[in-house]
Amino acid sequence: MRKNIVAGNWKMNTTLQEGLELAKGLDAALQGKTVNCDVIIGTPFTHLASIAAAIDTNKIGVAAENCADKEKGAYTGEVSAAMVASTGAKYVILGHSERRAYYHETPEILKEKVLLALANGLTPIFCIGEVLEEREAGKHFDVVKAQLEGSLFNLSPEDFGKIILAYEPVWAIGTGKTATPAQAQEIHAFIRKTLAEKYGQEIADNTSILYGGSCNAGNAKELFANPDVDGGLIGGASLSVDKFMPIVEAF
Ligand code: PGA
Repeated sequence: MRKNIVAGNWKMNTTLQEGLELAKGLDAALQGKTVNCDVIIGTPFTHLASIAAAIDTNKIGVAAENCADKEKGAYTGEVSAAMVASTGAKYVILGHSERRAYYHETPEILKEKVLLALANGLTPIFCIGEVLEEREAGKHFDVVKAQLEGSLFNLSPEDFGKIILAYEPVWAIGTGKTATPAQAQEIHAFIRKTLAEKYGQEIADNTSILYGGSCNAGNAKELFANPDVDGGLIGGASLSVDKFMPIVEAF
């Protein structure tokens, strides 16, 4: 059966020293605790190796926030999936709306990234979600379906089974505006139905679908109580142990 997961997405925040402190603080807070979900932290590339070495990665999975769409070679400034894997990170966040909007990542580019992540043994946390105008026009179902089709539905059932999905309505990211539990459940159920149509009910039932967008200690319990919401991808509230731990403990 699918896992409950709470994953942090630090974005472009924290120096290496601050990030190490945050990761170690979380590691200490989890010490001796039994939590009912997998815990993951997504950190800048520069932090991955140091953090993976400093914490118990069986307790806290480490994720990159991106990887290149090319295997290796003359791509100055890029970081490959193999490089990410070599740090000890086990996950990579792909398709985040900020990458799509600010760095022009297209469904085709993301398709390549997913394939390279999988080829290097990384678990993609693949983000989908509509912008406000699409939600207001009632197009959110079509948008998330197209995002799945455009970057993931080329995968074999076996490979698709390795994917974690994160539904993140763009209008809720960093805005303090959250989807209501009912809105989250409605679209998560739609996503699962779409997966079932493509890959069958068993794979659909085994896929973790996280909610992201202004998720915090105050609303996590209600959001996670939905049958099709399997956890959260947490931005702002993942930057302090005090804010992140109650979300982890919401399960
Ligand atoms: P937020 O970000 O929790 O700060 O809204 C979520 C995300 O972008 O993954």
